[in-house]
Amino acid sequence: MESVDLVITHASELLTLKGPQKPRVRQQMRNLGVLKDCSLAVHDGLIVDIGRNLRYQADTVIDAAGKLVMPGFVDPHTHVVFAGSREFELNLKLAGVPYMEVLKRGGGIFYTVEKTRKASPNQLLSQSKKRLDTMLRYGTTTCEAKTGYGLDVKNELKLLKVQRSLYETHPMDLVSTFLGAHAIPKEMDAEQYITSIIEEMLPKTQGLAQFCDVFCEKGIFSIAQSKKILLAGKRYGLQPKIHADEIVNTGGALLASKIGAISADHLLQSSDAGLRALAKNRIVGVLLPGTPFCLMMEHYAPARKLIDGGVPVALATDLNPNCWTENMQMIIQLACLKMQMTPAEAIVASTFNAACAIGMQQYIGSLEVGKHADIIILDCPNHQFLPYHFGVNLVQTVVKRGVVL
Ligand code: NIG
Ligand code: FE
Repeated sequence: MESVDLVITHASELLTLKGPQKPRVRQQMRNLGVLKDCSLAVHDGLIVDIGRNLRYQADTVIDAAGKLVMPGFVDPHTHVVFAGSREFELNLKLAGVPYMEVLKRGGGIFYTVEKTRKASPNQLLSQSKKRLDTMLRYGTTTCEAKTGYGLDVKNELKLLKVQRSLYETHPMDLVSTFLGAHAIPKEMDAEQYITSIIEEMLPKTQGLAQFCDVFCEKGIFSIAQSKKILLAGKRYGLQPKIHADEIVNTGGALLASKIGAISADHLLQSSDAGLRALAKNRIVGVLLPGTPFCLMMEHYAPARKLIDGGVPVALATDLNPNCWTENMQMIIQLACLKMQMTPAEAIVASTFNAACAIGMQQYIGSLEVGKHADIIILDCPNHQFLPYHFGVNLVQTVVKRGVVL
């Protein structure tokens, strides 16, 4: 008998998510490739076999009878590296003060920038590491991380380097996004700051970031400014991402299409033309229902309209001091219960399509022979439990690159 590192046996449901290796749309988002009473073999960190009656000599055997086995969650939009916390803002929200008003008063992002600038790389590392540990425990095996709480050359670079260390030292796979354009720092005007981003920061991102993002929003960065920054980022090999049409429709989704972004994120207020452009160009729409939840908004992104219109949808936590959750299971619950996504759609959106939103679908996002053995085992008999049994951690075992954590 051939020997392998690990075999997971008799999963009540094994979700392979087998399918086309590009962002999935419409009906494709309902196909989880469910196998019943199935086993999976892992060797050297990769999936080597999937089937009913596997016969291997394995170092470790996990009996998954009665359990759900699926790819680890991918969280494609986080601001996980920050210092301080903003729990006190809840009282402002309860008093009806809007998010943008808190920011105008110098709070919000600016409060976190102050704390983050003061924090040493080691402090940021240990605080972020703890968040990544929690993410892993809740089943996330790969995440994206944005800068954006430095807002000057020295501190943005500090954040990129912290992200690099996290990537090198933590079992979590982490891809890095440069979000220097998260806000305009108090000490500069917009033009000065944009010049600093383009001339001083972008040249330093080489080897430290894969994506460039902009908070494109009324009162933050305009369409023209966002376009300038994202095109400059492209010249440094950074693929564009964009915080688009979250509070006001400024045409962010249309811009994402024009410049060939890999994803457009938030999309609560996007125009029909913007959504059609995303569908036409198969740009992943990353929806972040944790944000309207934390802002106590009635309105969530129109997920049904996106999916039915052919936009490949992904989900993410948006983990940041305004919306602090490490838990993709909670996001799936919000997606189903607040945005009318089906359980299957929400699962595709948090695994395969999420991998597409960070260009990693070749390696992760589905359980297929040759892909990374990033696997989670959940204490429930089928995938419909994910949005159903809520508020608890259903993840029992996390396998990261073949290692049982
Ligand atoms: O994606 N919208 C901009 N950035 C974050 C929030 C950051 C913050 O409030 O600290 C977001 O929601
Ligand atoms: Fe964000």
